[in-house]
Amino acid sequence: MKRPIHVTIDESLCTGCGACVAICPHDTLTLVDDMARITGDDSLSCGHCMAVCPTGAVTLTGHRPMGQDFQTFAMPDGWLAPGDVEVETLAWLMASRRSCRHFTKDPVPATVLEDLVRIGTTAPSGTNAQAWQFTLLPDRTSVKGFGRGVLSFFQKLNRMARIAPLRGLLSLLGKPELSRYYAEYHDRIEEGIACWTIQHKDLLFHGAPAAILVSCSKEASCPTEDALLASGQILLAAHAMGLGTCLIGFAVEALARDAGLRQRIGLPKDETVHAVIAIGHPDEPYRRPSVRRPVTPRVVRLSQS
Ligand SMILES: Cc1cc2nc3c(=O)[nH]c(=O)nc-3n(C[C@H](O)[C@H](O)[C@H](O)COP(=O)(O)O)c2cc1C
Ligand code: SF4
Repeated sequence: MKRPIHVTIDESLCTGCGACVAICPHDTLTLVDDMARITGDDSLSCGHCMAVCPTGAVTLTGHRPMGQDFQTFAMPDGWLAPGDVEVETLAWLMASRRSCRHFTKDPVPATVLEDLVRIGTTAPSGTNAQAWQFTLLPDRTSVKGFGRGVLSFFQKLNRMARIAPLRGLLSLLGKPELSRYYAEYHDRIEEGIACWTIQHKDLLFHGAPAAILVSCSKEASCPTEDALLASGQILLAAHAMGLGTCLIGFAVEALARDAGLRQRIGLPKDETVHAVIAIGHPDEPYRRPSVRRPVTPRVVRLSQS
């Protein structure tokens, strides 16, 4: 499918250096009479041409430079080239992000949530589709309202999973998922439901005062990857901004299976939610970064033929 071309070249500024032509991954541009011209009929709208132009002759209509719209901090101008950032600090940040399961009651300002969404959009996306969407649950009441919906989905699922003949029949029909769910999750979920309804303790969102739902259009070339890459940026940035986050997989599962819940948050039919991020001010006294199992990468050396 051809995508519209948003690139415009200011002929009065173009010196014909050819940098944009060389960097373009799509053969959209050519040098004609020592001037960059749009000769292709498709563009990724990646803006690489704009990023390399020494005279600022290239712009992309309908696009804004990343970093221009942050409300809670100012991003420096210019490009941070490979090697210009200290990997020590970056790796330390990555290792220090922990899933936060204790939040203070302090609200997260709307401007911070909006900046986190903008940071999410710095992620790469397959064919630069940027077909992600972000739904904000900006306060504790909204998180609780959504949590209530997730909970009633699991109450229904648990009721169904307790019916042994149904589990048996589905397994016989080659659908063992309900039996597996019953064996692995039923009791834990039942405990969570009891905590919520009897003790008013939130084991689902851990008392978070806000949440960000990251969805993507099913039409995108890589919807799951795009949404999760955007989510990864949000998790790291939130840590840098003094916030704690936790991915809530149970909520993603409920949204995938419960049309009523999707309707409740106004999710368009062509979108799937790939991540639900609980977010708030952490109330956790960590002293050390994460532990992980050691991993040894598989190295494959191949001959050309
Ligand atoms: C899931 C995924 C798959 C991608 N696949 C390719 C690919 O096969 N070939 C390629 O040249 N670029 C690929 N890209 C890169 C995107 O085209 C690129 O991220 C997008 O154009 C935005 O440009 P940027 O990464 O420079 O911001 C992929 C990106 C993602 C997230
Ligand atoms: S936006 Fe990307 S694909 Fe389009 S002309 Fe510029 S470099 Fe090429």
